[in-house]
Amino acid sequence: MKTRWRRLWQPSLARRMLLAQLGLLSLLWLALCGYAIYDTVRQNEDLGFDQRYELALAAARNLSGDPARQRDMLQHIDRINRGDGVQEANPSWQLLMEVWQDGRMVYASPELNQPIRGARLGVTQQVQTGQRKWLARTLASPDGRFVVTLAQPADLTGIYLSHSGFLLLPLLVCLPFMLLPAWISVRLALRPWRRVSAEIAERGPHDLAPLDYRPPHRELHPLVDNINRLLGRVRESARRERDFIADAAHEIRTPLAAMQVNIEAAIQRTPDTHLRALLDGSLLGVQRASHLVHQLLALMRSEAGGGARPQHSLPLHTLLQECCAMLAPLACQRGVELELQADGDAIISGDTEGMLSLFENLINNAIKYSPDGGLVRIAVQSDGGQAVITVSDEGPGVAPELYERLCERFFRVPGQRQGGSGLGLAIVAVTVARHEGRLRFGPANGGGLQVTTTLPLAA
Ligand SMILES: Nc1ncnc2c1ncn2[C@@H]1O[C@H](COP(=O)(O)OP(=O)(O)OP(=O)(O)O)[C@@H](O)[C@H]1O
Ligand SMILES: [Mg+2]
Repeated sequence: MKTRWRRLWQPSLARRMLLAQLGLLSLLWLALCGYAIYDTVRQNEDLGFDQRYELALAAARNLSGDPARQRDMLQHIDRINRGDGVQEANPSWQLLMEVWQDGRMVYASPELNQPIRGARLGVTQQVQTGQRKWLARTLASPDGRFVVTLAQPADLTGIYLSHSGFLLLPLLVCLPFMLLPAWISVRLALRPWRRVSAEIAERGPHDLAPLDYRPPHRELHPLVDNINRLLGRVRESARRERDFIADAAHEIRTPLAAMQVNIEAAIQRTPDTHLRALLDGSLLGVQRASHLVHQLLALMRSEAGGGARPQHSLPLHTLLQECCAMLAPLACQRGVELELQADGDAIISGDTEGMLSLFENLINNAIKYSPDGGLVRIAVQSDGGQAVITVSDEGPGVAPELYERLCERFFRVPGQRQGGSGLGLAIVAVTVARHEGRLRFGPANGGGLQVTTTLPLAA
């Protein structure tokens, strides 16, 4: 709830555009109303419209012999002048009338309690009656017997403004209805922007390729271009870093190999048990360092292989047999049994070296973290265009909350007693991603860890 409120108060581009649209609309409306008031007041059209006077004069003259009918007719004309009750709320229809016959007032609008007849005929004048000021214009019949005065409140602008409801009501009624179309239009306008941001959000940390979506909208070009330029720079810097690590690992590998040979030779030749123990320790250290260098090189190679997916047809069964053969000495040493079950001969497309390294790492882990004399099961199944390879062991397994960290570089489960560099599963993850596959961890039936790799079968 709190975060929703916080989100509501956060600056938002959509809200900004929405407010700008509604603000502009209100401004336009007010300007239009202002102009309408100004125009009406300036033109004073109603007072200057001679036919109104002539109609009243003709009625007064023609019915002068029948005062009752004359009065009725004038009252009727007066009502028509004021919009016949329909437009009474509109200030511009507040037109009042007085009619005189032979110097005697024969009709006056009910609102007029004092005569407002102007002295000069045909001219609009200001007349005051009590508290109110009027603009009045008077015309007489040619013989001068009949006189008609029409009057309007002098302060029409003030009346218009005080009739704020009359002017602002349409705006107030429209605004809520405008809100939805304005909001939809803002959402639609921001859609390409959301598409760009969704593409960025979907990216994994190793996907540094330029954005696939290039919106046709001019405003978004600088953003997408700059992101692509930035990705290019990061790609370049990652490549340099990879090259540096690979070069360094490569350079270190040879002296390490030489050291290992020398230490092994020294161990064989020395009769001194104390010195031999020291040399054994050094040998272990050198072996660990060599393993680390080997894993680093493998990781850099699999990362550098990024981009296009390698295209070699690889029979999985043969590949896994090769890995098992390679790791058989290690398994023997631990008394671990390797069991390979393959359902038909699934063929995938990929690069041989990467795939060998992938399965070698998975089976190596299964052997390494199994108890002595344990069983490691490797199974291959084909499932709707996908090859599913599971490697399970009878070791201690891994707590599920750590699954997502297993593929981080140099991550090792705390308290791990077996040696290792923490790079094996990182290599596996990069290789699987490069082959458009998926990697999942779960508990194995025997209580250990089960790693499931799904790879697309070759077409
Ligand atoms: N089958 C397994 N059973 C139990 N724990 C495992 C298993 N496989 C991996 N792990 C845990 O995951 C961690 C990471 O494995 P990873 O293969 O990346 O590194 P490593 O085996 O320690 O070193 P490397 O493979 O580089 O020699 C290991 O340290 C281990 O704690
Ligand atoms: Mg490992």
